[in-house]
Amino acid sequence: MVRFRDVGLRYGDGREPWALRHVGFALEDGSFTWLLGPSGAGKSSLLRLMHLSLRATEGEVEVLGQDPALLPRRALPALRRRIGVVFQDYRLLPHLTVFENAALPLRIQGVTEARLRADVEEMLRWVGLGERLEDRPQALSGGEQQRLAIARAVVGRPALLLADEPTGNLDEAQARRMIALLREMHRMGSTVVVATHSDALVEENPAPALRLDTGRLESHG
Ligand SMILES: Nc1ncnc2c1ncn2[C@@H]1O[C@H](COP(=O)(O)OP(=O)(O)OP(=O)(O)O)[C@@H](O)[C@H]1O
Ligand SMILES: [Mg+2]
Repeated sequence: MVRFRDVGLRYGDGREPWALRHVGFALEDGSFTWLLGPSGAGKSSLLRLMHLSLRATEGEVEVLGQDPALLPRRALPALRRRIGVVFQDYRLLPHLTVFENAALPLRIQGVTEARLRADVEEMLRWVGLGERLEDRPQALSGGEQQRLAIARAVVGRPALLLADEPTGNLDEAQARRMIALLREMHRMGSTVVVATHSDALVEENPAPALRLDTGRLESHG
């Protein structure tokens, strides 16, 4: 369960305008939800609250049944390990190979080397990077980096999967394939939230949507 109650978020020292204001909704376990709204509406900010990179300035946030504000700091890493994130700017680690970037969540989970290798290679093949295992992220095109970011987010089968504009750098066929992967995660039980500007993807994949505009939740459904 992901639940926001009257959540507000303000960046900086409190003089910035509200990035999110009076946002309330609940997402059931195992749901798939689009996150929509114009540039600057607050989509990435909402996702940052969901993956516990930021704390709400006001209101209550519940993620995977826990209120991070009430948890001791040392309990946060365990909660974060259950969340997979595709960042809008990828956040790949430049000194690690493609394989090692994608393997990171499984290494953190303590998966054995033998199982890890098979899972990571299969995932990288699925996103079309099976021949690039030993390359560094800088050697990949923008779309290839984006697909690596998606592989890394899904490989650990997270309970909550958050994807921030995960197809922005992909052609139509690749975008469809990546959305199919996110939907497959949903089918296997993950709660999935995908921010996108693509009306075509939303039309092809009907699902409930959170619609933001200038920091306000306009609708959910
Ligand atoms: N680190 C930050 N510091 C200050 N303000 C920020 C920061 N990140 C975002 N904002 C502001 O918060 C508001 C919402 O930004 P956010 O990035 O959440 O929008 P978005 O819907 O993800 O936009 P886009 O579709 O362009 O990615 C914007 O007004 C933005 O300028
Ligand atoms: Mg954004």
